[in-house]
Amino acid sequence: MFSQQLEQNATAIQQHLDEVLSHYDDVNVVQAMRHSLSGGKRLRAFLVVKSAELFDIGLAQSIWPACAIEAVHAYSLVHDDLPCMDDDDVRRGQPTVHKKWDEATAVLAGDALQTLGFELVLNPMTSDHPSVRNALALALAKASGAQGMVLGQALDIAAETAREPLTLDDIVTLQRGKTGALIEWSATAGPVLAQSDIAPLRRYAEAIGLAFQIADDILDVQGDAAKAGKRLNKDEEAGKATFVSLLGLDEAKKRAKELIQTACDAVSPFGVRAIALQECARFIVSRES
Ligand code: IPE
Ligand code: IPE
Ligand code: MG
Ligand code: MG
Ligand code: MG
Repeated sequence: MFSQQLEQNATAIQQHLDEVLSHYDDVNVVQAMRHSLSGGKRLRAFLVVKSAELFDIGLAQSIWPACAIEAVHAYSLVHDDLPCMDDDDVRRGQPTVHKKWDEATAVLAGDALQTLGFELVLNPMTSDHPSVRNALALALAKASGAQGMVLGQALDIAAETAREPLTLDDIVTLQRGKTGALIEWSATAGPVLAQSDIAPLRRYAEAIGLAFQIADDILDVQGDAAKAGKRLNKDEEAGKATFVSLLGLDEAKKRAKELIQTACDAVSPFGVRAIALQECARFIVSRES
């Protein structure tokens, strides 16, 4: 079953992250990093591991980039929850870092999680080829920074006070950065590790990235906060233009379904080997958290 596969992956990721951090001093900022690295669906890590499997690359290698992207993702969440951004108290069913510690610790834990991501991806275990590690690190820098996730976050914040409401194109651009870039990095990690053509996985990633954000926007309106482990109904409160506010719920759901089909088709040349990624695409729109 897909949920079991996802859980198995999450356990392996957690163990590896715990092992890595067990070598760090047990100071406040490291405790805060541990806190923000625990829980979560580990979807991005799953994409790394399964895209690598398509090319016969096993967990001994893929666990390093898989943990790397979860560290960068955790950093993005710690900063996203800060009072100067979304001001959220709960994440993954736990108090956010600035609530459990303080804002300075949250800023520093986020900073250190980001650099931890690069430390992990550049670990020699990721690949025997320095050029492959280099390519992954360069792509991660681009996906995380002002052409990727940070750009998306900045557009998202700016949208709250924009005079003109955002158009659908604006929201797609925003999403490509905010959520899409890290998801694309994850799903293309396999072919990069294998020095193979990334085009099919990139098409897959573009579709699931968009579907993921549509699902997040739908969850914000329709989800159960206890299951989601975070505060909901906050997009409308903040006056954010989302896929749901622009398209309406039914059309947003229809779009998400179409995108899943596009994603499944993109990886169909891999035959039965692509089943896990296809199931993952379906999970992305049916998830409750
Ligand atoms: C939540 O990401 C934040 C967004 C990018 C919308 P996830 O839904 O993947 O969060 P976790 O990692 O499972 O907690
Ligand atoms: C967070 O997006 C995206 C990143 C952290 C890059 P949201 O602000 O929509 O995510 P939630 O709803 O807080 O999880
Ligand atoms: Mg946000
Ligand atoms: Mg948020
Ligand atoms: Mg959201």
